[in-house]
Amino acid sequence: MAKRRSSGLAPRLAWALTGSGHFFTECLEFMSKLESFDLFVSRAAAEVVRMYKSEMKSLPDGVRIFKDTTASAAPVGLFYEGVYHTLVVAPATSNTVAKCVAGISDTLATNVFAQAGKCRIPSIVFACDTAPELETMAPGGMVRVFPRRIDLENVERLKSFEYTQVVESMAALRTSVTRRLACLVTPSS
Ligand SMILES: Cc1cc2nc3c(=O)[nH]c(=O)nc-3n(C[C@H](O)[C@H](O)[C@H](O)COP(=O)(O)O)c2cc1C
Repeated sequence: MAKRRSSGLAPRLAWALTGSGHFFTECLEFMSKLESFDLFVSRAAAEVVRMYKSEMKSLPDGVRIFKDTTASAAPVGLFYEGVYHTLVVAPATSNTVAKCVAGISDTLATNVFAQAGKCRIPSIVFACDTAPELETMAPGGMVRVFPRRIDLENVERLKSFEYTQVVESMAALRTSVTRRLACLVTPSS
């Protein structure tokens, strides 16, 4: 098996942010409590962050932000260098989930998911279209949406992927990320 190059630094968390208004601000709030990680921002997420008047500036100083500006998703090279122990994709749009399930990697978020899988780095994906009817926060207030059968089926398909854990609520995301970080600090637990 080919050996992965090492950066020489302790591996860190990678987080991919997509353009889902559903739980967008809650994810940013949770991220602001984490120490240091690398944030990969889809082009849609970079727009949505402004629509929700959210701030990426409130993230901790140790956060490096990579925007989706290259066709080759150039920052994914870091996944080959042992820089990351875990990838979180949260919140994940139905678009990103559909592409991940189809094995498509043509955006920064779908690329980091694909490369994490190819490098056997565990991913935690917070899929937002998880029920036939949802209340979600639009920029103008709460709205009711009805995810389609294809959206729900894609979430189910993603659950069968190697090295992938799908979570379906903010509470489950917090628990899963916190547990993962804790088990990396104390490997015996
Ligand atoms: C204000 C706003 C909120 C959105 N919220 C969602 C959402 O909750 N779920 C979703 O699947 N798409 C949502 N979208 C649509 C996505 O941003 C769009 O499908 C985009 O192409 C996704 O790109 P990405 O998956 O690369 O981030 C929203 C768009 C806007 C403008």
